[in-house]
Amino acid sequence: MKLARHLSIGDLERSARRRLPASIYGYVSGAAEDQCALAGNRAAFARWALVPRMLTGVAERSQEVELLGVRYASPIGIAPMGLAGLCAHDGDLQLARVAHSERVPFVLSAASTVPLEAISNAAPGSWYQAYLSADRAAIAALLARVEAAGFPVLVVTVDVPLASLRENELRNGFSVPLRLSTRLVLGGLARPRWMWSTFARTLATRGIPHFENFTATRGGPIVTGATGDHRSGRAALNWGDIDWIRKQWNGKLLIKGILHPGDARRAKEAGADGVIVSNHGGRQLDGALATLDALPEIAAVAGDMAVILDGGVRRGTDVLKALALGARFVLVGRPAMYGLAVGGEAGVRHALRLLRREIDVDLALIGCARIANIDREFVARIHQMGW
Ligand code: FNR
Repeated sequence: MKLARHLSIGDLERSARRRLPASIYGYVSGAAEDQCALAGNRAAFARWALVPRMLTGVAERSQEVELLGVRYASPIGIAPMGLAGLCAHDGDLQLARVAHSERVPFVLSAASTVPLEAISNAAPGSWYQAYLSADRAAIAALLARVEAAGFPVLVVTVDVPLASLRENELRNGFSVPLRLSTRLVLGGLARPRWMWSTFARTLATRGIPHFENFTATRGGPIVTGATGDHRSGRAALNWGDIDWIRKQWNGKLLIKGILHPGDARRAKEAGADGVIVSNHGGRQLDGALATLDALPEIAAVAGDMAVILDGGVRRGTDVLKALALGARFVLVGRPAMYGLAVGGEAGVRHALRLLRREIDVDLALIGCARIANIDREFVARIHQMGW
């Protein structure tokens, strides 16, 4: 199906499912255990309704937002996602290039299959997401490398002390590092286009997809799946390390994976420039609080820290609800990955533009011409049995 016929992120998701081997689609779309936190993120958006104002004059609209000293075209960035290279050849690079040309931030995952230097060359201004162990010498080496590459923003993800239990990945024969399981190979054979344009190309240029930026995790990246033992040097990381990192890192610092206002306060004390309210798209603690539900209390204690939300954002209306409840900005994960799987760079661009167009229309319909003027007045909580 042509990209233009994908009218929503949901359409892209359905096409991605048809194009990717089942185990890869499962890796991207799935979450931990019973996937309650994944569903919870979406359900939380449905508990809030937008309350439009009329006759406010919305002929000229702007969705530009300033964040961490940079003016972005839209309040939506691309969340860090490991192994994007499984959805399209050098997927990290494709995501980064599109975000750069669309003037929105791209967050490179620690678990990327492309070296971080290639990303900062192709898309200056990208952010770098780190998984850190408590080994300070290793952290210092990584920070030096990230700084030398010119990344202005360091995102430290703190909700992965160890790998969660992802039954769907075990059932699908998917594990990290990538193993050529029978299921993966059979699934690939059933998707010849993916086999040829993504897998064969990657094998030819980079070998079996592997991590390029894991210098700061003792013992390498977390191992998951059937062979995984769920041990990790990351489990020892604590707030004292964040205080120390703040002293070592001159750029902007964001803490990703915050759900409690007390942790947001602690991040502020540590000197963070912002927090990302996130439950890792439901992929870590199942049953974790929905991010939209966590947002208002965190926004209340954030002061001048930037508050960014991710998890379940699929529509322009979701973005407006998050902004009304205190977020300055949102990140999308899976929507960008589905675009990547369906159409490479053009698909990612399509995903971002769908969301941008929805925001533009939604701004007119709620009667708020400037996105910076969205506030709590524009939403009401729905009190309804059954939610
Ligand atoms: C992720 N996420 C993630 N987060 C992170 O800090 N480092 C990482 O390497 C990854 N890897 C990753 C892979 C895949 C396939 C997905 C879908 C997600 C979590 C991600 O940054 C973000 O928090 C969620 O994806 C946001 O939820 P939505 O938009 O996917 O619903």
